Amino acid sequence: MNLCVLILAAGKGTRMYSNLPKVLQLIAKKPLLQHVLDTIQSLPTSATFIIYGYGGDQVKAAIKSPSITCVEQKEQFGTGHAVMQSLPFLKDDDRVLILAGDVPFISAETLSRLINATPDQAIGWLTAQVKNPVGLGRIVRDALNQPVAIVEEKDAREKQKNIHEINTGICLIPVPYLRRWLPELKNNNAQKEYYLTDLFSRAVAEQIPLITVEAANETEILGINTPVQLAECERLYQRRQADLLMTKGLTLIDPARFDIRGELTFSHDVTIDINVILEGIVTIGHSCYIGPNVCLKNVTIGDQVKIEANSVIEDAIIENECVVGPFARIRPGTVLHEKAKIGNFVEIKKSHIGKNSKVNHLSYVGDTLMGEHVNVGAGTITCNYDGVNKFQTIIENDVFIGSNTALVAPITLEEGSTIGAGSVVARNTPKHKLTLARARQTTLDNWQRPKKQEKGN
Ligand code: UD1
Ligand code: CA
Repeated sequence: MNLCVLILAAGKGTRMYSNLPKVLQLIAKKPLLQHVLDTIQSLPTSATFIIYGYGGDQVKAAIKSPSITCVEQKEQFGTGHAVMQSLPFLKDDDRVLILAGDVPFISAETLSRLINATPDQAIGWLTAQVKNPVGLGRIVRDALNQPVAIVEEKDAREKQKNIHEINTGICLIPVPYLRRWLPELKNNNAQKEYYLTDLFSRAVAEQIPLITVEAANETEILGINTPVQLAECERLYQRRQADLLMTKGLTLIDPARFDIRGELTFSHDVTIDINVILEGIVTIGHSCYIGPNVCLKNVTIGDQVKIEANSVIEDAIIENECVVGPFARIRPGTVLHEKAKIGNFVEIKKSHIGKNSKVNHLSYVGDTLMGEHVNVGAGTITCNYDGVNKFQTIIENDVFIGSNTALVAPITLEEGSTIGAGSVVARNTPKHKLTLARARQTTLDNWQRPKKQEKGN
């Protein structure tokens, strides 16, 4: 039988108090639903369906894969009703792995275990032993420990509430059973909903083989219903990523104060200080230090690089032995070539900073091609924008720019030119000469300070 996957994602998530459909809430900047979609990548599935309802357009827009079929559940009458919407799309020789879009940590290993333990014509149900079962459906077993039914919290008798084996909401059911049983579901229960879980006792009644498989741990079946649970799951996820990276040799000064919202590849002897946030694809070479409060998004960092505290770097390449920060902002399209040095309160945008060049203090460098061994004085600004268009600045090798200089683009500072401090330079500067563009200093010999005039008679 072919395996298809059905993800239930129609619920509003009332307890999130959000306009965003619950399955689009984020963990590590990725929608809950996408976590599930990524996990099932490795399963041998023939088709994937998503049952959507509340915020349908947003859900459809968020799903990037064209191979997924979205099926609408206009009104949410329960999990059984949700699965029923998929019947027209299912083939009789399929079996359906049913997942919830708000249970993001379910592992491919556990799902494979469920699939492998369930023969083609049988029904597989994923359960879990949990410390606190409040709010969850309980697995009721008979004296011989055989499964009998799933009872929802709101329908459970006091004694049943003591059961710690719960329904994860994840099950594997051949399509013919769904076709036969779903239309017969009744909603005569506490929530007036059509429960998917009622199929469990139907299987028992009709003596269809029913296999229960226990999840490996409590965390992988955590469902998210509230902002508190979302935050708890975020921390769990982050801690797991931190542990994984440390196992591979990364040094984290404090794994509890580290956030990754993407992927990190790194070489040996990399130390990451506290409160660092990594986003997108980040690559770090060997012997690097990333200081506290640094944000890196889509950044490639070479070897022996130091990124000092409070620097923000996005879509940039930092080559070997560069030093950046503290308090530097490196914006998209920037390449810092080997041994470049970017100091405090410096912003670089869409520029190349050549080998051994330095922009050490309080500068803005935008749309600039800078050569090697250039020294940019404090407070230097490239005036790259006339209010309408952007223009380029070219700074050739060995240029020295005095402090508080404005470079009005388009402009080229030719090789070895020196610019006097405080200049506003609007024309190209010639090779190996000193260029000044500021008012000449004058001293008035006969000038006297005014004296306070005597008041009175
Ligand atoms: C459900 C199970 C419960 C289990 C728990 C595990 C039922 C009746 N109960 O309860 O036994 O312990 O999950 O987390 O199945 N959904 C729809 N359409 C609907 C209703 C729900 O798509 O009409 C989706 C939700 O978006 C969600 C999932 O189904 O992704 C589960 O629904 P939810 O209301 O959260 O079920 P629980 O009450 O948590
Ligand atoms: Ca419910």
